[in-house]
This record gives sequence, structure tokens and C-alpha cells, in this order.
Amino acid sequence: MASYDVIVIGAGPGGYVAAIRCAQLGLKTACVEGRETLGGTCLNVGCIPSKALLHATHQLHEAEANFATMGLKGKAPTVDWETMQAYKQDVVNQNTKGIEFLFKKNKIDWLKGWGSIPEAGKVKVGDEVHEAKNIIVATGSEAASLPGVELDEKIVVSSTGALSLPKIPKKMVVIGAGVIGLEMGSVYARLGTEVTVVEFLDQITPGMDPEVQKNFQKILKKQGMEFIMGAAVQTVEATKTKAKVTYKLKKDDSEAELEADVVLVATGRKAFTDGLGLKDLGVKMTDRGVIETDEHWATSVKGIYAIGDAVKGPMLAHKAEDEGMACAEVIAGKHGHVNYGVIPGVIYTWPEVASVGETEDTLKKSGRAYKAGKFSFMGNARAKAVFAAEGFVKILADKETDRILGAHIIGPGAGDLIHEVCVAMEFGASAQDLALTCHAHPTWSEAVREAALACGDGAIHA
Ligand code: FAD
Ligand code: NAI
Repeated sequence: MASYDVIVIGAGPGGYVAAIRCAQLGLKTACVEGRETLGGTCLNVGCIPSKALLHATHQLHEAEANFATMGLKGKAPTVDWETMQAYKQDVVNQNTKGIEFLFKKNKIDWLKGWGSIPEAGKVKVGDEVHEAKNIIVATGSEAASLPGVELDEKIVVSSTGALSLPKIPKKMVVIGAGVIGLEMGSVYARLGTEVTVVEFLDQITPGMDPEVQKNFQKILKKQGMEFIMGAAVQTVEATKTKAKVTYKLKKDDSEAELEADVVLVATGRKAFTDGLGLKDLGVKMTDRGVIETDEHWATSVKGIYAIGDAVKGPMLAHKAEDEGMACAEVIAGKHGHVNYGVIPGVIYTWPEVASVGETEDTLKKSGRAYKAGKFSFMGNARAKAVFAAEGFVKILADKETDRILGAHIIGPGAGDLIHEVCVAMEFGASAQDLALTCHAHPTWSEAVREAALACGDGAIHA
């Protein structure tokens, strides 16, 4: 039995970052992980492998759609799926090994196996029980299926199965037009799969800016994805080689069915908190297994904290990381803080979609007077040069004070551009502060500046 200041359960972006920060702050730290490799959902079967496949298939799309226009002649590349999968796995391995290196560097013990908490102050891994003054639960989330739909990860798959299909399907039905459905749908659409997305709501990407939603759906349609909106999936029946999806259209209750080689169920994820013994300990949880905490990530049981996908809030790697760092600082007696008003969300399709802060809907609901400055990438020279002029930047600012309240971008590099606005928001900047900042030409960032200018006297290139 070993004794620690902190034991973290789970080595995803929440857990491994918490462990590193605890160690940096001088706390004797261990991290329990049941998978063979560190990095959690994000590095193993989430953010990283999906971005590798998005990158590879974007290159293919560029070759097919734009090379000839730029005078790059010759046959478009063909797809060697096995090699693409190997490339994806290599990217994953480099990153998971990287975390192992960081654990060694920071003298963090990796306790290999599945952990549980038999009593406060103790963590059991296999037959061993370790002592911990503090425990951080960072056990993440798992795919949530639909009632009665079984994921066999071959024909009816979650994102995990979709990342490693044995071959490229001819037809795929994606249930859910959220982040996973659209990212993975894009991957397969670019590989030549006929992708049909069935979505319960009338808009894709719930919660996003409505103009972004409309524009995004139009662009994805042009890229070959089909959408059936306002449709509630009723059943998914799989045989050995195919699956049949039945859905009911909300507008007239009519039923229809679709056949596919693979069905991706992308209808959300749920906290993964079973088997830890939390209920017996009296840790307060919602009936969906989400751990309840105070604003310092403390649960209802002293000495047990929780962060990341296992607690409320957006299920995003960077949100989990920020909570991991802040929670470690609280445990070390410092002042950890996360600004939940400035957590960006990014969809890594082409073009990318990014948003932060308030939307026009949330501002209207709260009755706050605002102005919107919008600039189309059509007016951005660099975007035109890379065939990505379809999107726009929208900045929302307080009508009276000009303080930036949110931003919504669809366009090239949106996932990077959004951070300029995040930093501005953290500093309480006005739209004019952004507008008066010199931006290099020709860059995509100029579109952000132009949107900020549009909040005042007007954009120049509009
Ligand atoms: P996780 O990453 O889920 O890690 C939890 C870890 O705890 C797991 O490794 C698990 O094995 C381990 N564990 C659980 N229980 C125990 C136990 N009892 N004992 C020992 N170990 C245990 N987010 C983004 O921000 N950007 C993206 O681009 C992005 N892409 C995604 C793509 C896909 C396909 C998916 C599925 C998710 C994606 N996400 C993305 C979401 C992101 O992966 C999660 O928000 C993030 O991983 C949450 O981190 P976490 O540390 O809370 O949990
Ligand atoms: P999601 O919550 O983003 O989208 C689920 C979609 O499924 C919604 O549009 C919902 O209306 C729809 N839906 C639900 N039930 C349905 C039904 N019966 N029939 C038809 N449609 C139905 O969930 P998703 O895409 O599974 O992603 C899970 C989490 O993973 C998200 O919270 C996201 O934050 C995270 N993630 C983040 C990524 C990123 O940051 N780039 C990438 C991938 C995942």
C-alpha cells in the first residue's frame, strides 16, 4: 500500500492534466487508468484520431476538388484505407506515449487498472488499496445509445467503431447532426460514402448561432451529405452485413426507412461513473450519473473532487483540462478558477466552425441589448485563394458599452481564429479594441478585425 497527497482516477485530458499540475505544485501524486494507454477518450478514441482522419480526408478532397484549378495536374490520389488507419494510430501512439513521458518527468505513479473508492481517503486498484488525502474523479464519459439500439461496433457503431471500420462503407446513416455526426460524416463523405444524417431537431448543431447552422448545413449538403431533419429514429435493426433505420417525421408522423452498411449513432454521451462506489459513499449525483460538485469541484464527500465529462458542462477536452488545473490548485491551497463564459467550441470540418460566449438567442432571451458585426470571408483575399470564402465571422457586443459578448465563425481556421476573441473577452475588451488592433495582411484573422469594425462604423472590405 502506498500513500499519496492526491490520487486521480482516470487519465484523460481532465485527469492527466490535474495529475501533472498536482505534481508541479509539490503534491505526491498517482493516477489510476484502466486502459492500456494514457490520454483517455480524447487521445485514444476521440479528438486526436478523428482529427487525423479529418486531416487526411481533407487533403484528398483538396486534391480532387482544387488541385487542377491551381495547375496541379495528374491523377488524384487513391485511398489505401489500411495505411490511413495506420497513420491515424501512429498519431494516437505518439500522443499517448507523450503523456507517459510527462508522467515520468513529473514523477507521477501510473497505477494500472480500474479504480474504485471503498471509503473516503482510499482507492482500490486490483487487490491493492492505496491511501490518498485527496481523490479526483476524472472518469469521463461514454457513448449514449438510443433506447433499444444495441451498438455492436461493426454495423451499428458509436464514434469508437466509426474511427476503425474495417472498410469504407458504401452507405452510412448517421443518427444525430451534432459534433460527432458531422465530423465523422464529413470523413466518410470525403471518402466517397453516401452519408445520410437523420436529426431529431429542425437545425443541425443544437445551440449554435442560427445563421451558422443554416450556412453550415448548406455547405455540408454541397459536399454531398444528405439531411433528413425533424425525424425521430424509432428502431435500428442490424443483420450481419446491413442495418435498417426506421424514423418518424415530426411534421406529419409519417414513417420511413433507410438501409445502410453502417449506422453511426451519434446522439450524445453520458458520464461514466459506474463501478466507482460513489453511491455507497454518499457522493451526490444526478439520476444520469453526473457527479455534483460545488464551484471548487468538491463533491458532497470531503476529500473527493470531480472534473471533466463526469461533471456538468460542455463535454470538451479543454474544459476538462482547465478544471483539472484549477482543481489541482484548489487542493494545493491556491485559487483555481475556470471562466465558463469563455469556453470555445470548435467543429473541425472544412470549413471549421467555432463559437464562444453568448449567441443572439441567449442575448434575446436575457433581454440584453446588443449589436452584431458580421463580415463574410468573400471579402477576405486569403480565404478566396484557398477556396474557402463561403463562411463569415460574427461578433456580438453590448450595445451600450461595446464589450464583446460572443463570436461565431464559420470559415478557414475558425478553430484558431476564435482564440483572438477569447483572449479579448478574458480582458473585457470592446469590439473597438479588436478593430483598432493591426492585423497582418493577407490573413484569415483580418476577417475577425473586419467583423469588429462592423460593430462600429463599418467594415472596409464589405
Ligand atoms: P476521458 O477523456 O473520457 O477520460 C477518462 C479516462 O478515465 C478514460 O481513459 C477511462 O478509461 C478512465 N477511467 C474511467 N473509469 C475508470 C476507473 N474506474 N479506473 C481507472 N480508469 C478509469 N473534445 C474536444 O474538446 N475537441 C475535440 O476535437 C473532440 N473530439 C472528440 C471526438 C470524439 C469522437 C469523441 C468521442 C469525443 C471528442 N471530444 C472532443 C470530447 C473529449 O474527448 C472529452 O470531452 C474529453 O476526453 C473528456 O476528458 P475527461 O478527462 O473528462 O474524460
Ligand atoms: P451532440 O449532443 O453534439 O449531438 C447529438 C445530436 O443527436 C443532437 O443534434 C440531437 O438533437 C440528436 N439526436 C438525439 N436523439 C436523436 C434521435 N432519436 N434521432 C435523431 N437525432 C437525435 O452529441 P455527439 O455528436 O454525440 O457528441 C457528444 C459529445 O462529444 C458532445 O458533447 C461534444 O462536445 C463532444 N465532441 C466534441 C467534439 C469537438 O469539440 N470537436 C468532436 C466530437 C465530440
